[in-house]
Amino acid sequence: MPRILFFVGKGGVGKTTVSSATAWRCAQAGHRTLLMSLDAAHSLADAFDLDVALMDKNKGRPVSVADNLWIQEIDVQDAIKDNWDSIYNYITSLMQTTGLGEVVAEELAIFPGMEEVVGLLYINGYYQQNAYDVIILDCAPTGESLRFLSVPSTLDWYMRKVFKLERGLFKLARPLVKSLASDIPLPGDEIFASIERFFEKFKGVDEILRDPAVTTVRLVTNAEKMVVKESQRAFMYFSMFGLTVDAVVINRLLPDSVSDPYMQQWKNLQQAHSEEIISYFDPVPTFKLPLFQQEVVGLERLTELGGALYGESDPAKVLHETVPYKFSKTDDEAYVALRMPFVEIKNIGLYRDEEQLIVRVANFKRHITLPRAFKGLQPVRATYKDDYLQVHFE
Ligand SMILES: Nc1ncnc2c1ncn2[C@@H]1O[C@H](COP(=O)(O)OP(=O)(O)OP(=O)(O)O)[C@@H](O)[C@H]1O
Ligand SMILES: [Mg+2]
Repeated sequence: MPRILFFVGKGGVGKTTVSSATAWRCAQAGHRTLLMSLDAAHSLADAFDLDVALMDKNKGRPVSVADNLWIQEIDVQDAIKDNWDSIYNYITSLMQTTGLGEVVAEELAIFPGMEEVVGLLYINGYYQQNAYDVIILDCAPTGESLRFLSVPSTLDWYMRKVFKLERGLFKLARPLVKSLASDIPLPGDEIFASIERFFEKFKGVDEILRDPAVTTVRLVTNAEKMVVKESQRAFMYFSMFGLTVDAVVINRLLPDSVSDPYMQQWKNLQQAHSEEIISYFDPVPTFKLPLFQQEVVGLERLTELGGALYGESDPAKVLHETVPYKFSKTDDEAYVALRMPFVEIKNIGLYRDEEQLIVRVANFKRHITLPRAFKGLQPVRATYKDDYLQVHFE
């Protein structure tokens, strides 16, 4: 069964470096490893000290860089053309009829969040085909990569609600639109079939991401106040969406050998924040990485960093497992328990929609499909204990 590892964290903390070192170590351990960049500002080629032209030549598909190691810097435009051709052509032609030039229409046909959608599409494909043993994702800085989390449930929602409905509506509206503006192209049946095929490619991805034996998230952080805060938020959102965080990596710690009084202040600060991080995320294991003497670029440096991080152990191993959520129903009570550390209960919104419980925190919504046994029950109150939000039903 393939393993999927996400590396996330605030901008500049070392996600690309740590994910690259992990991928390189996985490849050396004999796992067929794919390292994929989900950040539009790709830098994997830089971490491996490769010629960028090599990546461009392969149009966003995996490039073999060593034994057992491939890297892929996603090109959204190419991926959409490969996987979504007729829909893409339709949207482009629709935009052209409104007076936009071909190039502008092509650019606009890519909606925000497409990197994430395309990333999921690849992950699901590789997983289903068992194309790799380990798939490692170098994510965009947290603010953006969190968008990733809501993609599966949003797609599911579109499929169930909007798409089914729109299809009928389009059919009804067709004669009307035709008589008003004859030059607007209408989507034909082949477009709908293509949309259906597109959604088909996402089937099952949700379960893959939520299975802690398959997918885990590693949070990269620095021992600085602002970074720690953001890491906690990220941890909360990942948990809320049912993903398991199996390690926290504190990167760029000043080594003990530093004795300069000026730097000593920094060392003390880092020391304090490290302790804070360790106790915050406990029982999730924390790993410390020193600030190396130079930039971590090229295989030699990546080997060194990978060694410091994992020692002799297998980096692909699940380092910590928690239960993201559980359902319980007895004669006396029924509840759903969701692991959501670092959240304040007063910031949580709860709704029920047919077979789903919807949990909202700030801009994020998580849909949880309830078991059959919860049919007819309503959420009545929520309590918060030991990192778990318990939603009680009656
Ligand atoms: N432990 C370390 N010691 C020395 N240099 C490091 C260390 N970790 C990372 N670096 C260097 O810091 C720089 C930024 O690291 P990296 O690109 O991995 O961060 P990132 O989190 O991926 O950034 P972004 O959010 O921009 O994608 C790189 O030049 C990298 O070589
Ligand atoms: Mg990066």
